Amino acid sequence: MSRGGFDAPGLDAFRRPDGNGQACANCHSPDGIELQSFSDATLRRRIGRHFPIDRNEGAAIYSYLRRQPRPAGLVRPFQPAGSPIWYATAEARDRAFGQILARRAPKLTGPIIESAAEAEAVAEEVKQIDLFSLPIGIPLNRLSNDVFHGAKQGTVADWIPDTPAAPTFGLQDAYLATPNRATLGALISGTLFGVGGAQKLAGLKYRALAIYQHWLRTGERVMPPVESPFWQIGEFGRLERGHSLNELGFPPRVRAESKATDMADLRLPWYWLGWMFDPGLQRSGDLPETRRADYFVRSLREDGPYPNHTLFMLTRKLAEQGTNPEAWNSDYVQMYEIQYSFWLLDQVTPKLDPVGKRIEANSFLMSLYLLSRDIRRTGAVLLPESQRTQVKLMQAELKRIGNPNDDLCQSTLELIKTARPIR
Ligand code: HEC
Repeated sequence: MSRGGFDAPGLDAFRRPDGNGQACANCHSPDGIELQSFSDATLRRRIGRHFPIDRNEGAAIYSYLRRQPRPAGLVRPFQPAGSPIWYATAEARDRAFGQILARRAPKLTGPIIESAAEAEAVAEEVKQIDLFSLPIGIPLNRLSNDVFHGAKQGTVADWIPDTPAAPTFGLQDAYLATPNRATLGALISGTLFGVGGAQKLAGLKYRALAIYQHWLRTGERVMPPVESPFWQIGEFGRLERGHSLNELGFPPRVRAESKATDMADLRLPWYWLGWMFDPGLQRSGDLPETRRADYFVRSLREDGPYPNHTLFMLTRKLAEQGTNPEAWNSDYVQMYEIQYSFWLLDQVTPKLDPVGKRIEANSFLMSLYLLSRDIRRTGAVLLPESQRTQVKLMQAELKRIGNPNDDLCQSTLELIKTARPIR
């Protein structure tokens, strides 16, 4: 079979098991395309872990990976705008994010809105923003974190599986011969998931890496046909927080080289990435908590705080769910649902800068106008109890930040009361 035009001896060596029975292609992409960004010295060093670089296999792998040199760099895959907003603290990065939004989303961050038409315009504006080029203050995980570069990089919070997870070479060949959605989908569904935490993370990382390397190769950003691996890695970070690498079953070498691991480093960056691919959060899983972005919102606080990021994320998510037909996956007619999740329910008073206050006010007003519009249009309302609670909390918060609108809040509450409840 054709191997995508790449020389077969190099690929054979890339697939040859080392002394531990592990081949490069068991943990890296089918032809190592993502490794091309590393320097010559780095490639030699890492090949040397598995094969003597001066012998046939090592040399063959080296020239195979160097077939298309690329600039070296410690890449953060899919980091919007190439690198994170670079201030020392989360607060400073969050403020800078607010300034960026002030330019990119003048309606959301501008004068207080006063009508349903303006609310629709805010929703449209927010939906138009390209999340892949909007700089953020959250550093996404690096492609590779190798302790060689410093103790702080001794962590498993990167994109490369720590134990073999790649599917059969048959599926890899089919992909390399014709890299498209179907063959990529087969790689993803064929990914190996062994038993235990370490193996689970390896499988999820392989799926994430498959999507990244496909983008490098084709320029196409593909959402997998299964639940989002990005989101699931974030969930892994949340659920396994506090567990040691030993408890999770990582092999001794990984434990020794990844002492700086904090599972929280896998949480927020991967939630945000999962959300970039799926701004309506329809592929995050079946749990209502994840659909509502509950843990995501808490993570933005605990791993931040990032209030401006949170408000922007929630506004975009609600606008997608309520007004983008593609982001709607229920049998009911699409309608707006107010759900600011733990942003409101946790009742932790957020510290907002002036831009943040305008975003919060306009986001809430957008929601109130759009919900009222949809209730009038359909005569129905989703989850009335929950929405009533949200509106009451919004009313208090609008007052707190100096933009009270009791009339709109009251009339929305009335509409909720008279509408036909569904769910
Ligand atoms: C058992 C899984 C596994 C195998 C097999 C494997 N790697 Fe890796 N590789 C990793 C992981 C995990 C990282 C991320 C850095 C770390 O955790 O040390 C990595 C990182 C790298 C890096 C970047 C290092 C840096 O400085 O950031 C290169 C280059 C690399 N691997 C090349 C190879 C080559 C070539 C082979 C085959 C000879 C190979 N790897 C085999 C898991 C593997």
